[in-house]
Amino acid sequence: MYDVQKIRKDFPILSRKVYDKPLVYLDNAATTQKPRQVIQALVDYYEGYNANVHRGVHALSQEATERYEEARGKVARFIGAESPDEIIWTRNASESLNLVAYTWAQENIREGDEIVVTPYEHHSNLVPWQKVARDKGASLRILPMREEDNSLDMERVDEFITPRTKLLAVVHMSNGIGIINPVEELARRARAVGATVLIDATQSAPHLPVDVQGLDCDFLTLSGHKMLGPTGIGALYGRREILERMEPFLRGGEMVLEVWYDRATWNDLPMKFEAGTPNIADAIGFGAAIDYLEAVGMENVRDHEIALTAHALEAFKELEEEIDVFGPRDPERRGAIISFHSDIVHPHDLGTFLDRDGIAVRTGHHCTMPLMRELGVIATARASCYLYNTEEEIDALVDSVKRALRYFSDGAG
Ligand SMILES: Cc1ncc(COP(=O)(O)O)c(C=O)c1O
Repeated sequence: MYDVQKIRKDFPILSRKVYDKPLVYLDNAATTQKPRQVIQALVDYYEGYNANVHRGVHALSQEATERYEEARGKVARFIGAESPDEIIWTRNASESLNLVAYTWAQENIREGDEIVVTPYEHHSNLVPWQKVARDKGASLRILPMREEDNSLDMERVDEFITPRTKLLAVVHMSNGIGIINPVEELARRARAVGATVLIDATQSAPHLPVDVQGLDCDFLTLSGHKMLGPTGIGALYGRREILERMEPFLRGGEMVLEVWYDRATWNDLPMKFEAGTPNIADAIGFGAAIDYLEAVGMENVRDHEIALTAHALEAFKELEEEIDVFGPRDPERRGAIISFHSDIVHPHDLGTFLDRDGIAVRTGHHCTMPLMRELGVIATARASCYLYNTEEEIDALVDSVKRALRYFSDGAG
């Protein structure tokens, strides 16, 4: 039995007040709160075994190396990678995506090739490909979206994924409107034409079971802070054969095997891609976050969030006249992200109003400006839930939105 109140107790921040009101934290797509277990893992490292990894023979260094590599193994297991060597630590998902753009793409994309993305991409999975396309004389193709429910038009995929497609780089769950893309099917179509497949799982892996074997992808990105872990740590999964063929991204210490004045040879995976002293504490903290998620169970997290989404969509129905909620109505086809817009009140004003009620949502373009253009808005208000949110918090959100609409339409407050 999923015990949300028990889970909430693990998150010290959730008991704080904002403007004397209980905090209702609904900005999880931006970053998530951290359980005591993750915070404690950071404290344990700094208080108990702080040392640099890999190079030391002394006990602290060995302990730090062991825990740090153990965390890599947890990430590998969490997403079904064959080996921890296929997990490269990065600072965040943006760096993971840039790593692929600056290495694999620079080496493999040629003039006339096509890179296929969706309209939902976070700028981090779009802007790097724009540069690759410009540098190489390749082009970007954007899969089409259906107006009715803002989902991908799968009937037209063959017009876009063609023998010219060299890379399919697609987001699994949209941070902008919460839609879950049929990435398995897209990957299958891309494979059939010999393309490489990258999945941006930054927003999906924290909320539902993700398995790189099932997705049959070559690359997949994660950001620790979106899944209960610390900021400053992310991961790139890469299929071993591909990583082995790739040139390093950053050069320096740790990533080399032998160095002469005029040349160097590269270390084995994954260190070939990890120049310099890594973010040891936060990698260990990321590992603790994965332990936490696995203890709750990703299927349970997903079920809880489907129930929250169903509750939210039902509650927002009451406001149908004043508010557009983007994305499909079926909670199974989306994450617990409710992105909405009203002509009555600008999203920023709405966000400020909600904040005074202790409710944290994000307003703006959510780093998805092209998507906002497709939707015909410049910004939305976005409430994004996680495993610790409750139906009561959704009710508080909807109640506050109702009062805001009244306030801004007739000043009645
Ligand atoms: C779908 C998606 N991809 C990539 C990113 C970039 O993540 P980070 O800012 O941690 O690099 C985000 C962040 O919001 C995201 O939601």
